[in-house]
Amino acid sequence: MATPSFIIVAIDGGAASGKSSSSKILAERFNLLHVDTGSFYRHITYELLRRGVAHTDLPSLLQALAELKFTTRLNGRSAQMLISGQPAASDIRGHNVNDHVSHYAAIPEVRHTLLSYQRGQMAVAQQHGFRGLVMEGRDIGSVIFPQADFRFFMNADPAERAKRRAKEGQQDSIAERDRLDSSRKASPLTSPAGAIEIDSTHLTLGQVVEKMAASIAPKFAGS
Ligand code: DC
Repeated sequence: MATPSFIIVAIDGGAASGKSSSSKILAERFNLLHVDTGSFYRHITYELLRRGVAHTDLPSLLQALAELKFTTRLNGRSAQMLISGQPAASDIRGHNVNDHVSHYAAIPEVRHTLLSYQRGQMAVAQQHGFRGLVMEGRDIGSVIFPQADFRFFMNADPAERAKRRAKEGQQDSIAERDRLDSSRKASPLTSPAGAIEIDSTHLTLGQVVEKMAASIAPKFAGS
């Protein structure tokens, strides 16, 4: 899938397990495009809620999904998804989206709508001269890029994760989201085969990044 000089790093894990902070640093260090697929699910959820489309109303949901046009804008090293030309509102991290996102993300048609868009970020990264991409989510190593060069699965104690969200000033039902994300039929949160598992409960961000970078760096050695 990937050319030798282009690498794909997949980082999966539950809510507040440390995916975003570590993937942003890896993107900087190795010149990768950072892709936060959770923000894509949040943006879609926000848009569907704005349109008043309930996750239980499949006909209206399908109609709305067919109307959404996805494009990408770069925000520094991060891929920002635009829906019909509009960036996500800052409230995508608020409690309303936190409470609903796992319900919409469990619907196969919602996941299918995002599948090719997510894979298409590889071409976006190549067009902009990145050496690869680091994509974070729940099903990146299992479904989106099963042939990723590197797959990491992050975890941390629920109490520690709740503390991290509280520090960010966020109200988030982490345990409930993880329960829904892990138990759904369509592409559940799972540690993909062959993934390097990292428990970040007692690690600093720097230590997490060093573990990941130690695996990735040899791929770039001498190139
Ligand atoms: O990473 P996050 O907490 O911002 O993700 C928000 C929600 O999006 C998460 O609870 C489940 C869903 N999601 C998903 O189902 N698959 C992904 N690849 C990424 C996120």
